[in-house]
Amino acid sequence: MYVKKISLKNYRNIKNLDLKLQNNINIFYGKNAQGKTNLLESIYIAATGRSHRTHKDKDLIKFGENEAHIKLEIEKENIYDKIDVHLKNNSKKGIAINNIPIKKLGQLFGYLNVVIFSPEDLNLIKQGPQERRKFLDMELCQVSNIYYYNLYQYYKVLKQRNSLLKKIHNDISLKESIFIWDNQLINFGKKIIEIRKLFIEKLSVISSNIHKNITSDKEILNIKYKPNVFVNDFEEKLKKGLEKDITYTTTSYGPHKDDILFLINNINVRDFGSQGQQRTVSLSTKLAEIKLIEEEKGILPVLLLDDVLSELDKDRQKFLINNIKNLQVIITCTGVEDVLKNLSENCNIFNVSNGEIIVDRS
Ligand SMILES: Nc1ncnc2c1ncn2[C@@H]1O[C@H](COP(=O)(O)OP(=O)(O)O)[C@@H](O)[C@H]1O
Ligand SMILES: [Mg+2]
Repeated sequence: MYVKKISLKNYRNIKNLDLKLQNNINIFYGKNAQGKTNLLESIYIAATGRSHRTHKDKDLIKFGENEAHIKLEIEKENIYDKIDVHLKNNSKKGIAINNIPIKKLGQLFGYLNVVIFSPEDLNLIKQGPQERRKFLDMELCQVSNIYYYNLYQYYKVLKQRNSLLKKIHNDISLKESIFIWDNQLINFGKKIIEIRKLFIEKLSVISSNIHKNITSDKEILNIKYKPNVFVNDFEEKLKKGLEKDITYTTTSYGPHKDDILFLINNINVRDFGSQGQQRTVSLSTKLAEIKLIEEEKGILPVLLLDDVLSELDKDRQKFLINNIKNLQVIITCTGVEDVLKNLSENCNIFNVSNGEIIVDRS
């Protein structure tokens, strides 16, 4: 799958952009704060409907403007599609596929699959469980509409349950009404748990293979799902936790508290791994994500590499470059020579300066 063209209007610091991309490697280089990540972010939004950096659509519109546009032309086995995202200051964003507005975000998923890899992802192991859940969700929403639907419903119900908990906190006579939400929470939550379990099992097998290669057979990586509740005891846990939930006016059990464990040779990498090991595990996991999307969707995603090469040592840089040869990659960096010395094939090179993007070499 390829992004063939990208047009931006009043998107962050990019006033106007019309760009053709190459099917393999596209490099965007420039000093700090010039608009490189902004460009990748816009592609990510066209794929998933939201930014990986902010929840506020307003932040995406160029200061002083009322609206912004992201337009992408994508190709998938000779079929061309157009994605238009229209961001507005005062109302909800509009998204159209092939000029037809979509009603639900779920309709967007699957048109363009991307994997984003940025320096923050290298800290996936070290960060809190929330970041790991975000990783899971963003991945799964792209490959499974059922997952997206259940996740969306789950969080809607969770919000309603929490707001009812606040009311019960002040008026205990309302206590019985919680069970309406509990049933729905269990219903949607169970689906999420089941899908996550399967996904992590597959991810573990693939990343373990990759990790073995990076570490020359020294390390066996295992990724384990750590659900907050199991499908069979979700109902019981919710019931038992109700008093505590009323006290703290928040739901303490459910997949919104899930986590993932990373083990090397059966030892928890988060607690006992070196920083280098943790980063290598992140790299293996990200590369596995690409393979997993390929397996699930039958097509390779587009890889967005945001300033990540400079964070890796020479061996890992080489490994990464060697493992992304057959897909479209959009790379940002500050020093282009560093990236080029690892690449043998032709690539498009663009310079990014103060929101302007110009072709350097193609
Ligand atoms: N809504 C916006 N309108 C105008 N400029 C913005 C907006 N949001 C961010 N910027 C500017 O974009 C620049 C950061 O761009 P970014 O793509 O993150 O940089 P980098 O090239 O280092 O990746 C900053 O100068 C910031 O002020
Ligand atoms: Mg950046």
